[in-house]
Amino acid sequence: MKAVTRSTYGDASMIEIVEMDVPKPKDHELLVRVHATTVNRTDCAILTGKPFIMKLFLGLGRPKHQVLGTDFAGEVVEVGPGVTKFKKGDRVWGFDDNGALGSQAEYMTIHEDKTILTVPDEVTYEVAAASPEAGHYGYNFINKIKITSEQKILVNGGTGAIGAATIQYLKHYGVEVTATCRKVHFDQVKKLGAAHVIDYEKEDFTTTAEKYDHIFDAVGKSTFGKCKPLLKPKGKYISSELGPDGQNILLMMTTLLTGGKRCQIAIPAKPLESLVKIRELWLSHEFTPLIDRTYPMDQIKEAYTHVASGSKVGNVVISY
Ligand SMILES: NC(=O)c1ccc[n+]([C@@H]2O[C@H](COP(=O)([O-])OP(=O)(O)OC[C@H]3O[C@@H](n4cnc5c(N)ncnc54)[C@H](OP(=O)(O)O)[C@@H]3O)[C@@H](O)[C@H]2O)c1
Repeated sequence: MKAVTRSTYGDASMIEIVEMDVPKPKDHELLVRVHATTVNRTDCAILTGKPFIMKLFLGLGRPKHQVLGTDFAGEVVEVGPGVTKFKKGDRVWGFDDNGALGSQAEYMTIHEDKTILTVPDEVTYEVAAASPEAGHYGYNFINKIKITSEQKILVNGGTGAIGAATIQYLKHYGVEVTATCRKVHFDQVKKLGAAHVIDYEKEDFTTTAEKYDHIFDAVGKSTFGKCKPLLKPKGKYISSELGPDGQNILLMMTTLLTGGKRCQIAIPAKPLESLVKIRELWLSHEFTPLIDRTYPMDQIKEAYTHVASGSKVGNVVISY
């Protein structure tokens, strides 16, 4: 099979597409013929080993796992003798961001108890693969608060994969969403469910007089300090990033102690729960991942370079 590999940390030039043996599923494992995956921001962090904290679990000197990839959609082609939850022929999708999944390959194995579900017939492999990373991180914004339909929430970065997913979740709960993006993307972001859009190139949203129940910084480009005046008394600023100076970790602890307006990081947890929610919203036609472009596997270096540029609009899919 063909697999996308690297042996050291670095940029997309480190990537090699190599031939290797198809893995054998162990007792409770499935062998999946992968049909689609994505290159996402987590894949870029796994490729580069940055921020440094990534190397603590990926391998300090060299990466422990050579084959890249954190999400997948494909068909089960073989099952280990102990498998009970899936069968040969099932269309499946899943996610694991620990750097060991190896889904950027024609075949991969996965334990049946990991983050994996079946794909409904009406959902394509491309849509399924483009859903878990952003959908999971987006879900980790909304499950940190009690959402009600009376709320007003601002999403900074409506065209990021996570921002686009988050807007759709908020629309599902009837929240009045304001999102930032460039003017050229206004229509696209409104279609996702934003009631108001702000052109971040023309206007700094933190200087407006508007008040929000919560602010979700889905691109980590703002700060708690700047957003605090816009928050209502018990409002939360939740970011997908640690902050320009890594300050969000400390702010998370201090604002927990002081009460009132809080700073939080969208630390992801319980990915299977996120996938269950995504599947529910696929079926009610309330969630469709925003797809920027689709590449074949042999152009995956270009895909990594595009994603690392920080200018993708939604998700970048690899289909094979
Ligand atoms: N918490 C986690 O574990 C975790 C996991 C994955 C990703 N992340 C982080 O989450 C962030 C978002 O990732 P992503 O994959 O959703 O998207 P992304 O690829 O980082 O987002 C790119 C989009 O953000 C827009 N953007 C750039 N600067 C902006 C600004 N100042 N204001 C508003 N929009 C702006 C860009 O639009 P233009 O091209 O029009 O400028 C582009 O469409 C990244 O910083 C990533 O590192 C965190």
